[in-house]
Amino acid sequence: MKIQGKKYRTIWYEGNVVKIIDQTKLPHRFSIKELKTVKDAINAIEIMEVRGAPLIGGTAAYGIALAIQENNDPEFIKKSAEELIQSRPTAINLKWAVDRMIKKLSGVKSDKVLDIALNEAKEICDEDEKFCESIGINGLKIIEEIYNKKKDTVNILTHCNAGWLATINWGTATSPIYHAYKKGIPVHVWVDETRPRNQGANLTSYELNEENIPNTIIADNTGGILMQRGDVDMCIVGADRTLSTGDVCNKIGTYLKALAAHDNNVPFYVALPSSTIDWEIKNFKDIPIEERNSEELSHIEGIDEDNKLKKILIYPKKSKAMNLAFDVTPAKYVTGLITEKGICEASSAALSKMFK
Ligand code: MRU
Repeated sequence: MKIQGKKYRTIWYEGNVVKIIDQTKLPHRFSIKELKTVKDAINAIEIMEVRGAPLIGGTAAYGIALAIQENNDPEFIKKSAEELIQSRPTAINLKWAVDRMIKKLSGVKSDKVLDIALNEAKEICDEDEKFCESIGINGLKIIEEIYNKKKDTVNILTHCNAGWLATINWGTATSPIYHAYKKGIPVHVWVDETRPRNQGANLTSYELNEENIPNTIIADNTGGILMQRGDVDMCIVGADRTLSTGDVCNKIGTYLKALAAHDNNVPFYVALPSSTIDWEIKNFKDIPIEERNSEELSHIEGIDEDNKLKKILIYPKKSKAMNLAFDVTPAKYVTGLITEKGICEASSAALSKMFK
């Protein structure tokens, strides 16, 4: 997709380094950062210079390649793989990508291993781009159906950033929106701000603006009243881990939005590539939920009148805060899963039929 009219992907390898768009600086600064070592990749994932399930999967894949480039010793690669998987616990894509890399590299002669690792990391990223494009083509049908009935702008609510910045390209939740817009269907997006890291305001709104898609940022608690007023035609969110049962783990606050959608008969869709499906865990309470530093709540970053980036404290100094990063939306609140293979019900039977 485009930034200031120029096409980008979120990650690529060039001149022996991995390049990323530093998302901690958006929307105020656009800067490209170089990852030279596996530690750089781990750090980028941990501090969210890259974030979003598919993108951290792609970064972990390149992280393995960087580890090999640095020190092609099996013990070092093994330790790096473990550290990459641990760098953020909730999105399953990290483990999925690292396992795929390790499987691909097992038994490969050491003089070939770097080339094969770099090819596989690129393949993982290329595949994600293709899958996200297919998610868009599949999800477009739902938006088109609503438009054909309504004959007016389709209002779509989304939470967090499940846009192209969270993937390699296209996004998951935003891909059907980009496809609808390109087809000339009038769309408008309600963008949940998504406290505390404000991925909605800082990233979703930013990337939609760059593609000229009408959007309005709302505080996280506003979706309910908009649904009661009939101002939301559908919700589309992404996923960090979708269980084979159809339960969906995504950014904190997704569950509450699904409850409001259910109460107001607003269709609630989850868009995901198959790399986000966890076929092992059956009980959503077993999903590791990341708890991040409470400073992400108590402090806020932005630019002042002199265009300088500043971080300020907004809580009482003595207050404690708790920062859970994800929650789970039970399958019963999900209208459908939009995947690269098509749209299916959020259930074990439907997911198995589609993917197994
Ligand atoms: O903490 P983040 O920004 O990595 O969380 C991202 C999300 O929750 C996204 O909605 C999810 O990864 C879907 S990505 C296409």
